Amino acid sequence: MKIIVTGGAGFIGSNFIFYMLRNHPDYEIICIDSLTYAGNLSTLSSVINDPHFRFYKADIRDREAIDRIFAENNPNIIVNFAAESHVDRSISNPGIFLETNIIGTSVLMDAARKYKVSRFHQVSTDEVYGDLPLDRPDMLFTESTPLHTSSPYSASKASADLLVLAYHRTYNLPVTISRCSNNYGPYQFPEKLIPLMIINALNNKKLPVYGQGLNVRDWLYVEDHCKAIDLIIHNGKIGEVYNIGGHNEMHNIDIVKLILKKLKKSESLIEFVTDRKGHDLRYAINPEKIHNELGWLPETSFAIGINKTIDWYLSNCGWWQEIVSGEYQNYYKKMYGDNK
Ligand code: NAD
Ligand code: TYD
Repeated sequence: MKIIVTGGAGFIGSNFIFYMLRNHPDYEIICIDSLTYAGNLSTLSSVINDPHFRFYKADIRDREAIDRIFAENNPNIIVNFAAESHVDRSISNPGIFLETNIIGTSVLMDAARKYKVSRFHQVSTDEVYGDLPLDRPDMLFTESTPLHTSSPYSASKASADLLVLAYHRTYNLPVTISRCSNNYGPYQFPEKLIPLMIINALNNKKLPVYGQGLNVRDWLYVEDHCKAIDLIIHNGKIGEVYNIGGHNEMHNIDIVKLILKKLKKSESLIEFVTDRKGHDLRYAINPEKIHNELGWLPETSFAIGINKTIDWYLSNCGWWQEIVSGEYQNYYKKMYGDNK
């Protein structure tokens, strides 16, 4: 079995590559990544010399490059993680989100059609459903919840989902889509809530909490997401969407306080800052379909997952120090000003 994984030098894609090489030692994994600011080849250093792994630096918008890689490898399955993934960046610069997340997906699907792959899996997000009210814990996203996006990021992901379903209906492309809640774990880029707060706390910098920190996200340990995708690409029904989430809703402020407590730092480091524009209030997934059809259940509780994640950032300072010492400084200044 040959699987092309796009975006494999990023957070979830790299964790997926490690998961697949561990759990399917006879598979060949071919990674395509253009190494944007969010992609890091050093993340893949433990597998780069694995004979079952191959890396191509290429942009999913580049039709010729993608065609050449498909021709060289003749893959069975494509799993598309490659994306611009950060909501705040989509608010300041939407254009690249449309290009990579929508056009890039269509370029990959054209190659998937031409080379007759047996499965094209699109890694999507629960953000395509918009948000839920804070005071209605009974309401959860199901696969039939209407798409109702808030940010340029979520709108670009929803557009890609529609295009994926259109390629299925029009060209019979064998597709599946997964829509997962917020992930956390090793190798997450420190622009996202959990790694940003861990790293700022370790550096005794202020922890910038948007608004009052009352927004709710449904957190899933990254390995549980990888396991769900593995199940979907092998046993999921063609043309179907699967929601993935672990019933672990938390207010942002409670996560921030938990991180401070674990790192034995003072809550005085918390700084409430101007809210994100159009900030989604609450995400919450109903994962019954993937549970009933594919037997998936999350295995890592938040209590265990957050400890593992904090420990990983403590033991891998080199990985994130290299990031935060570079171009990230400019991003951070632009986003948060001279927050010390
Ligand atoms: P990430 O930003 O950490 O990684 C994205 C990767 O894609 C990077 O390695 C980057 O170099 C690569 N990339 C970007 N543009 C590219 C292009 N044009 N061509 C080739 N490679 C390109 O993102 P992530 O958090 O790992 O998310 C991966 C996928 O999962 C995304 O599609 C995202 O929408 C989805 N998702 C993320 C979460 C989450 O909580 N992080 C939750 C649900 C779904
Ligand atoms: P984020 O990790 O960007 O994921 P998403 O917006 O895709 O859910 O943010 C998670 C939550 O944390 C979201 O409600 C915004 C909030 N947040 C902050 O309060 N401060 C920050 O510095 C960041 C990056 C996020």
